[in-house]
Amino acid sequence: MDPRNRVFVVTDSAHKLSDFLAYVENNYALTLAYSRQEVLADTDLRSAAAVVFTDQPNDMDARRFCERIDPRWKERPKVIAAGPRNSPWLTFVKGQTAVDGVIHTNAPSEQQIRTFGVLVSLRAEQALAELGPKAMTIWRESSKVLKNIEGLVEAGQPIPRAAVHNLAESVVEGTEDALLCDMMRVLREHHAETLVHSLDVAMNVLLLGRHVGVRSKADQRLLFEAGIMHDVGKMEIPSGILRKPGKLTAEEFAVMRQHPVSAVRILQESGGYDEHVIWAAAHHHEKIDGSGYPYGLAGAKISEIGRLTAVCDVFCALTERRSYKPPTPPEKAFDIMKSMGPGQLDPTLLERMMEMVYGSLPTQKLAV
Ligand SMILES: [Fe+2]
Ligand SMILES: [Fe+2]
Repeated sequence: MDPRNRVFVVTDSAHKLSDFLAYVENNYALTLAYSRQEVLADTDLRSAAAVVFTDQPNDMDARRFCERIDPRWKERPKVIAAGPRNSPWLTFVKGQTAVDGVIHTNAPSEQQIRTFGVLVSLRAEQALAELGPKAMTIWRESSKVLKNIEGLVEAGQPIPRAAVHNLAESVVEGTEDALLCDMMRVLREHHAETLVHSLDVAMNVLLLGRHVGVRSKADQRLLFEAGIMHDVGKMEIPSGILRKPGKLTAEEFAVMRQHPVSAVRILQESGGYDEHVIWAAAHHHEKIDGSGYPYGLAGAKISEIGRLTAVCDVFCALTERRSYKPPTPPEKAFDIMKSMGPGQLDPTLLERMMEMVYGSLPTQKLAV
């Protein structure tokens, strides 16, 4: 196991944080170790992802825990202090060591999850940094743009196209396919947030588009924009439904099925988006036999960009980590996609995608 995926939770009473920790374990590629002894002993904390200090009555122990983390380490675990808001414990830990995040054990879990989201993004950043500065720039720009979009959707404000367009431009210009593939691998392994999914789909749509013959840079930018924005409607769905680990009820699924409709409205109201970007958002859950949603379109009524995005969306959903499942290997993902039958995904595009991933057969032209 990669020690960077290890999180030490220093606690005598893990039950205090059980909901939060279960969420972390289900959603991120992290293994939790609940042991004071293990941290006090000679464990190599330097390479761990994080150490979570929870409410400890014994200050001597707490001091020893903190001393194990040397702030001069170049690479050190993120330090998370957990305790009730305004507790003397939190003040104490902050006085002892540099704290990267605080979990208020008496605060709503959403905030705790955000704290951890930041932490895991930082770990993903480290893994991306190994791929070089270009990967880092793309990741930082994408996160910034996507977070900004999330904020604008929450506030019901238009999303200026310029930011999305500029991001697409910087990815399309001079980014080699191999680097995009490596980035997708790293991102999929790390976590399962919508942000990562949007970027994963965007890179895939771009690569598949290039593979099937989309040569002009302007069209390639549209492909990337389409991928980034395809699930923008999900940002309006209550997080209780979006993050639900189990199966959705019929009512919840009905809400979920509206996200392409919301996306179309958001993009149209924002103004300036190319119709291909809007079609991708509108059509990516439609099926060739008309059994998809939200419009129940069939065959050629589904736009080509919609069909292309659908193939990438399913492939990414399978190969990404989810709260209820680990990432599915690509070969197995293709088996599942093939078993869905020709009425679901565009069979030609599915074949092209397999060619692309396996890198074996010749390419063919596709007008987007
Ligand atoms: Fe979707
Ligand atoms: Fe999606």
